[in-house]
Amino acid sequence: MLKIAVCVSGGGTNLGAIFDAIDAGKIKNGEIVSVISNNPGAYALERAKAHGVEAKCISPKDFGNREDFNVALLDGLKETGADLVVLAGFLVNVPAEIIREFKGRIINIHPSLIPSFCGKGYYGLKVHEGVLERGVKVTGATVHFVDEGIDTGKIIAQKAVDVLEGDTPKVLQQRVMEQAEWIILPETIAKICNGEIELG
Ligand code: GAR
Repeated sequence: MLKIAVCVSGGGTNLGAIFDAIDAGKIKNGEIVSVISNNPGAYALERAKAHGVEAKCISPKDFGNREDFNVALLDGLKETGADLVVLAGFLVNVPAEIIREFKGRIINIHPSLIPSFCGKGYYGLKVHEGVLERGVKVTGATVHFVDEGIDTGKIIAQKAVDVLEGDTPKVLQQRVMEQAEWIILPETIAKICNGEIELG
């Protein structure tokens, strides 16, 4: 069984999609051992508890400086014993020491077709605002390995989604989640768990 830790900051619909795929037997040989959030109010933590999974909050507000928070996050992740770390709407810049410790074993879901609308400042709803401002007709989502840069790691999976006339950022966000994120993230995890995609 591959041990999976999921890092979250908000609602956790992607986490929900992973739980659904495990419950439906689409992800075999993998289990979520821990869900970690930087945000004590993240609904994702409730989703974890409802599944009987450890839910931890490690908030930067509880530490005097960023370095201490980074150490706590690293320790918290190491304690889970995870083989794979999934960033599912984790809106924290993952510190270099965590990337080094879990080299090639961290994946992220991003709500655009990288290299468009990614990098500094592009997260959550801001991505979809950028897409609508630029007027592109196709967007989507990307699953990629995490390296030291922001959204620069090796791309594993992408899925395109149409932008439609009259879309608002929220409407587009929902379509990208339904038609891309909730599909390619569990699929990628399933492939990692059955050895089709190798971890570093
Ligand atoms: C998702 O759209 C995810 O792709 C995005 O945050 C949202 C979290 O939703 N992540 C990023 O923007 C990372 N750069 P969720 O909490 O409902 O899964």
